[in-house]
Amino acid sequence: MNKKILSIGCDHAAYNLKLKLIPYLEEKGYEILDVGTDSPDSCDYPVFAKRVCENIQNGVCELGILICGTGIGMSMAANKHRGIRAAVCSDTFSARATRQHNNANVLCFGERVVGYGMACELVDAFLDTPFEGGKHQRRVDMLTAIEDAEK
Ligand code: RB5
Repeated sequence: MNKKILSIGCDHAAYNLKLKLIPYLEEKGYEILDVGTDSPDSCDYPVFAKRVCENIQNGVCELGILICGTGIGMSMAANKHRGIRAAVCSDTFSARATRQHNNANVLCFGERVVGYGMACELVDAFLDTPFEGGKHQRRVDMLTAIEDAEK
């Protein structure tokens, strides 16, 4: 079976957490497309958000993970990109619900907010939960309509 592909990006504030998470995700059976950053040197999170979003927009992968100090900047940047529904989560209920209800395609969290153990639980909840569709599809379509109206 082909490996599921996952794109991951971070800024300097989450570089250490990303390094620890990649082997965990590989162990879960994912092929990881790491778009950087590649060092703890100060950098700008929108650069890496854009790279993960482009991988999703281009159909290289369906889901992505973006990590910064809080997860907030990454989620704001990602949600500027067409077709991206990014959710910043620090609890597993939200990480699961945003897949079920919002069909979120990018999970964001912060190294300054969650530790490695919670980060693993967040990615498990997010990656292992399918979108429920039904009435939620109508609402997700309304999000897409907002993008289309502003073309
Ligand atoms: C970097 O200091 C920090 O601002 C960034 O990682 C992120 O938390 C922004 O939302």
